[in-house]
Amino acid sequence: MIQCEGLVKIYKSDDLEVVALQGLNLNVREGEMMAIIGNSGSGKSTMLNILGGLDRPSAGQVKVGPWDLLKITDEQLVEYKRDTVGFIWQSNARNLLPYLTALENVEMPMMLSSKLDRAYAKQLLEWVGLKERMHNKLHQLSGGEQQRVAIAISLSNRPKLLLADEPTGSVDTRTSDMIMDIFRRLNKEIGITVVIVTHDLSLAGKVDRVVAIRDGLTSTEFIKRNPNLDAAADGTLSNSIQAAHEEYVVIDRVGRLQIPKTYLTALQITDKASMEFDGERIIISPPKSLEG
Ligand SMILES: Nc1ncnc2c1ncn2[C@@H]1O[C@H](COP(=O)(O)OP(=O)(O)OP(=O)(O)O)[C@@H](O)[C@H]1O
Ligand SMILES: [Mg+2]
Repeated sequence: MIQCEGLVKIYKSDDLEVVALQGLNLNVREGEMMAIIGNSGSGKSTMLNILGGLDRPSAGQVKVGPWDLLKITDEQLVEYKRDTVGFIWQSNARNLLPYLTALENVEMPMMLSSKLDRAYAKQLLEWVGLKERMHNKLHQLSGGEQQRVAIAISLSNRPKLLLADEPTGSVDTRTSDMIMDIFRRLNKEIGITVVIVTHDLSLAGKVDRVVAIRDGLTSTEFIKRNPNLDAAADGTLSNSIQAAHEEYVVIDRVGRLQIPKTYLTALQITDKASMEFDGERIIISPPKSLEG
């Protein structure tokens, strides 16, 4: 579904340049439900905005289904946003029109693409648990309810890919659980691919796979793999359950890998390390020559 390789995004303003993404790699299979986790400023929204066609990449490769988002024309981009992706923004003020009812909010994007389907709009609101509240104006709904309206809106164009930026950022644990359950149900029942961006590590247990963006600029490391995909690959379930608890690092094309800071600090490795290969494992330890 998604293929990103060496994705670069540079924001330019006057003489200032911010490198928000510096060669990011990401592959997402159709039907996966995964999370991207990283600290504030690590480039999560930047990446999601590019995938959602809201922003243009500077360099690298980024493909979603049949679309090449680096080469896509402006007209095609409109079509892409209308037909392929559903987007839930970090601040839900951007998703919603406060003076309309929940139902009218869901119908609005349908009207813009001239495919009004009231029955489907009502069904979406029912799915997100707002059947009783659909005729209320947005300002009469709680923050969590508004966030669920935003989810219904993002699905109004029947997208194949759902992109959610911090969908549980401003709601309590109970609402957060409910939102994650809604994503899971949509993922299972209509096979929609779901990518959730968050800085909340506790969501990791609720998705198939987690990819971390680190250090503001650079690329990705795996925290958790998709057990279903592993089971499909080798047919053994016990292996795949083990795999789900193992940590992975990504090694780039020239052989570089990123070692977590906590590991380096624990071993007091600063700029140099000793590396040995015993035929099965690669062992990285503090430099021996500097000891004693
Ligand atoms: N339009 C822009 N112009 C210039 N710099 C930008 C722009 N948007 C983002 N940035 C910068 O790019 C970097 C990544 O920002 P981004 O919004 O992707 O982070 P994030 O991971 O989503 O953070 P958060 O968790 O706080 O939402 C930051 O240093 C940010 O200041
Ligand atoms: Mg963000």
